[in-house]
Amino acid sequence: TARHPQRLTVVGLGYLGATHAICMAKLGHRVVGVDVDPDKVAALRSGVLPFHEPGLQEHLDEMLATGRIAFTADLARAADFADTHFVCVGTPQKDGTNAADLGFVEAAVDALASRIERRALIVGKSTVPVGTARRLAERVAAQSRPGADIEVAWNPEFLREGFAVEDTLCPDRLVFGVDSDWALDRLIDVFDPVLGAGTPVIVSDLATAELVKVAANAFLATKISFINAVAEVCEATGADVGQLADALGRDPRIGSRFLKPGLGFGGGCLPKDIRAFAHRAEELGVGRAVAFLHEMDEINQRRRERMVDVVREFAGGDLAGTRVAALGAAFKPDSDDVRDAPALEVARMLSMEGAEVRVYDPAAAENAHRTYPDLDYAASLDEATRGADVVALLTEWPEFVDADPAELARNVRQRRVVDGRRVLDAERYVNAGWEYRALGQAESL
Ligand code: UGA
Repeated sequence: TARHPQRLTVVGLGYLGATHAICMAKLGHRVVGVDVDPDKVAALRSGVLPFHEPGLQEHLDEMLATGRIAFTADLARAADFADTHFVCVGTPQKDGTNAADLGFVEAAVDALASRIERRALIVGKSTVPVGTARRLAERVAAQSRPGADIEVAWNPEFLREGFAVEDTLCPDRLVFGVDSDWALDRLIDVFDPVLGAGTPVIVSDLATAELVKVAANAFLATKISFINAVAEVCEATGADVGQLADALGRDPRIGSRFLKPGLGFGGGCLPKDIRAFAHRAEELGVGRAVAFLHEMDEINQRRRERMVDVVREFAGGDLAGTRVAALGAAFKPDSDDVRDAPALEVARMLSMEGAEVRVYDPAAAENAHRTYPDLDYAASLDEATRGADVVALLTEWPEFVDADPAELARNVRQRRVVDGRRVLDAERYVNAGWEYRALGQAESL
């Protein structure tokens, strides 16, 4: 735990903020989490997480019991509580554009700046277009109250959903974008136990810290789209992209992680971040430099269309009246997040073409239903596959990977499976009488 426990606030209790707040308390700090949504605050206060994240519940229970964490909707109280304020609000894609919507970030910073009356540090963690932190610092200076001396720092977050606790407490690296030694010292005090465990730290200016985050997500998205572009070539030539990715990934310079071909990337981060990055570069007059990101986005979207094409081919060229079991809705397994989820998008596209789609997801059904209420949702794998003409594996939940093809075979009308994530044991399916197809492979097995 921290040698010098601090008082911290965390503004924005979404995925990032709630995780950060709970983990900071775990490090020994006293934390007040703030959100404008009173329901979210009430839920967290009573120990209920507003989203699904393995391991976080236990920490929340423990921190509530220690009294080191509190939640409030009253920002005035929070501003007074601490000298270091983390801003963790969302930066969604702005409607109808590729730009990031900074409305929540600006509102959070304004709300703090208009209440703080002493020396304080506002630390941005949200993913923002480069140049935002500098602009926020000026904005803060323009509205500071007498007696206030507020600095802005940037500390980007690299956590993955599903591994949020681990990624926060044992990150690969910490990046501190700061304007002064004072700000740096504050961040060192906050992250002291993490740094003490040997985590490398990169101390930079504000712009570099903002860009590291955006560049990291752009690189990851590019890696996935690269292998999916090769998958398209494989489909046209009869080569197998699975073996190819395996062979490529064994070169340590390339590495096998994030080189899994399939339905492509989704979620609340990668898709919107590459768009916002390209948009910001265009604003800065260097759009050409990252123009390839548009291509990465298109390759990614084409995977979804390809999945629909394969299911349609399997159905004999026409989807009307075909019963499709859509396995998965979340953008990845162990998550209930359906933002920009390839799985749900494929289910929607199939249904638009007249297929009778039944979606099943072990955790994301409720969120999926809220997003696309017109789709038909099943309560179990058994129910989803009953009478199906085609089974489409869209999110690689262990429940689907481990399912017994012989048992599933008894449930369906026709034994045809399309493996959108390349995770099923093709041989077992074929032995159980299935026609098996995977994305990135030309023919049926
Ligand atoms: C991503 C980054 O991995 C985090 O480092 C980052 O902090 C986070 O965004 C963020 O900006 O907040 P996350 O959105 O939780 O994290 O999800 P990932 O595990 O990165 O998966 C993204 C998508 O890529 C998923 O849809 C997944 O199915 C897909 N994917 C991943 C592939 O299609 N192939 C792969 O090889 C890997």
